[in-house]
Amino acid sequence: MKAIVFESKTGNTKKYAELLGQETGLPVYEHKEASKHLNQQDEIIYMGWLFASGIKGYQKALKNYNIKAVCGVGMRRTSEEAIKDMVERNKISGLKAFYLQGGYDGSKLRGINKLMMNMMSKIVMKELEKKEVKTDEDLETIDMINNGKSFASVENLAPVLEWLKQS
Ligand SMILES: Cc1cc2nc3c(=O)[nH]c(=O)nc-3n(C[C@H](O)[C@H](O)[C@H](O)COP(=O)(O)O)c2cc1C
Repeated sequence: MKAIVFESKTGNTKKYAELLGQETGLPVYEHKEASKHLNQQDEIIYMGWLFASGIKGYQKALKNYNIKAVCGVGMRRTSEEAIKDMVERNKISGLKAFYLQGGYDGSKLRGINKLMMNMMSKIVMKELEKKEVKTDEDLETIDMINNGKSFASVENLAPVLEWLKQS
């Protein structure tokens, strides 16, 4: 493996990429800078934030590098369902896929992204407020929308580190 390449809007994916870099010793590059350091078809781990279910920059990175694993960073907790959904919507095949929980911080968003997330959070909040019995995850989501929160941690990278050890 040559490097970790990432795209991040509000810092969660950047934090995951840096933590993974620290754990593995691999160099970490922002996607737009990566071509200065890497050759076409170098083996990489690609990490991108989820935007309307798409992993930002993934399709472009596929054309330029030999992606061995892709990590999508979204708002939901990680689960088999979250991974399956991400794999299907991004048409991921022939490489390993991980879903990592990032977070949400409206104060770091601008323009169209802020507008889209404001609309999305209002819909989610309405649905959650209607629920009489709220799960831990529901409460976590409400707190995240109201107060901003990041879940990026080295612990969440355990499956990625385990996979790297075996490959
Ligand atoms: C416009 C917009 C669309 C988003 N769409 C999704 C989505 O489809 N699924 C998801 O889980 N998270 C979605 N998110 C949340 C981000 O993926 C999440 O906040 C992530 O942690 C951002 O990573 P970053 O901090 O590296 O930018 C969206 C965020 C924005 C601003």
